[in-house]
Amino acid sequence: MDLKNRGSFGTKLGIIAAAAGSAIGLGNIWKFPYITGVHGGAAFLIVYLVCIVLVGVTVMLAEFTMGRLTQRNGVGAFKALAPGTKWYLVGFLGILAGFFILSFYSVVAGWTVDYIFKAATGAFTGKSAAEIGGIFGGFISYWYAPIFWHFCFMFCTAGVIVMGVQKGIEKTSKILMPVLLFILLILCVRAVTLPGASKGLAFLFSPNWADLDGEAILVALGHAFFSLSLGMGTMLIYGSYIQKKENLGLIAVQVSVADTVIAILAGVAIFPAVFAFGIEPGAGPGLVFVTLPNVFNQMPGGQFFCFLFFVLLALAALTSSVSILECLVSYLIEEKGISRKKATIAMASACFIIGIPCSLSMGVISDFRPLPFLDKNFFDALDYLSANWLLPLGGMLISYFVGWKLDVKELSKELSSEGKYSIAYMPIFVFICKFIAPVIIFIVFLHGLGILNWIGLF
Ligand code: TRP
Repeated sequence: MDLKNRGSFGTKLGIIAAAAGSAIGLGNIWKFPYITGVHGGAAFLIVYLVCIVLVGVTVMLAEFTMGRLTQRNGVGAFKALAPGTKWYLVGFLGILAGFFILSFYSVVAGWTVDYIFKAATGAFTGKSAAEIGGIFGGFISYWYAPIFWHFCFMFCTAGVIVMGVQKGIEKTSKILMPVLLFILLILCVRAVTLPGASKGLAFLFSPNWADLDGEAILVALGHAFFSLSLGMGTMLIYGSYIQKKENLGLIAVQVSVADTVIAILAGVAIFPAVFAFGIEPGAGPGLVFVTLPNVFNQMPGGQFFCFLFFVLLALAALTSSVSILECLVSYLIEEKGISRKKATIAMASACFIIGIPCSLSMGVISDFRPLPFLDKNFFDALDYLSANWLLPLGGMLISYFVGWKLDVKELSKELSSEGKYSIAYMPIFVFICKFIAPVIIFIVFLHGLGILNWIGLF
C-alpha cells in the first residue's frame, strides 16, 4: 500500500478527541466506579493515579512514537523497525487481543443501547430493587435480544471505520466527545446537589489506607492499561495518523489527563447518588446496570437522567470500539492490500460472530467452558485472557522494545519533531521504558496468572 495515501488526523483537536475517545469508554464509566467501590474508594484512586503517571503515560508515548515513526499498523511497525526478527509477533498478539476485546466489548455496549430504550420508555419506573435486578438478569440471559443489540452496535462501529480516518473516526469523535462531557457534567451537578452527597464524595476523595491491599494495587495497574487503551497497538495506529508537526509527548499527557478526569467525573456522578440512597458502593459489575436505575428511580427527574446516563455510556463505548476495530482493519489494509470497505466488513463480521457465544454465555451456554484449564464461561474467558494476559504482555514487550531496541537518536528526532519541541523528559522516558514499565507490568502479568497467589504474595 502506498504510504502517502494513508489517512491522518486533520487537526490537533481531532487527534485529542480521537485518542481520548479511544481511552474513554466502558472502562471509565462502567468499570472504574465499580472497581473503586469494591476496593475501598479514595486510596484505590490514588494508587490508580500513580500507575497512570508512572507507566501509563510512558507506554502511551512509546506506542505513539512507534506508530508515527513507521507510519504503519502494529504488525507493520515491528516489521519496519526490526526486520528479519520475530518482533512482529507482538503485533499479532495485539490483533488477537483486539478480536477478544471487541467481541465482548460490543456485547456490553449492546446492553447499554438496550438500556437507553428501557430508560426512555420508563421500564424501571416504580419497580423495586429486586425487580430491576431481575430485568437485567432476564435481559442479558435471553438468547436473541442482546445479540440483536450487539449486531446494531457492531454495525455502527463498522460504519464509522468504513468512512475512514478523517471523515469517520476524527469527525465522529469530535462530535461525540463534547456531547459526552456535557452529559457527564449534567449528571455530576445532579449528583452533588442531592441531599447526603457529601458521603459519596468523601468515599471517593478521602483515603482510608487500611482498605488498600496488594490485590487492589495490581487491579489499579491493570485497569490503568485497559483504560488508556494500551498494550494492543490501538495507540500505535492512532499515533501513525498524527502529523509529524505535532508534539507527541504533550498529546500523550493530554490524553491521559482527559481519560483520568473523565473517570473521576464518572465517580463523582455515581457515588454521591449511591450513598444518598443508601446503596452498597461495592456492588460490582452490576453497579451501573442494576444499582443506577434503582438510584435514578428514587430521584426527581430520574427517568430523564437514567436515559442520559445510558446515552453517555453508549457514546463512550462507540469511540472506543471504533479504535479497536481500526487496529484490526488497518492490518488488513496495509499488510494484505485489502480495501478499507472489505477489511472492515471482514473484521467486524468476525468480531460479531465471536461475540455471539459471549452473549449466549450469559444464559443458554452459561455452563460451557471453552478452555478446559479455565473455569470460566466464554465471555469471562475472553475478558480474562485479554485483560490479564494479552494486554500486559503486549505493553511489556512494547515498552521493552522502545527502551532497548530503538536508537535514542532516532527516538529523540521523532519525539522532538526534528528539534521543534523540547524533549527534556527523554532520560526519564527511556528509563521508564527500559526498566520501570517492563518490571511493573511483569508483576501484573504474574498476578494475572495467579502465580503471586501461589507463592503467597498479594
Ligand atoms: N480504553 C477503553 C475503555 O476504557 C477500551 C479500549 C479501547 C481498549 N481500545 C483498547 C482497551 C485497547 C485495551 C486495549 O473502555
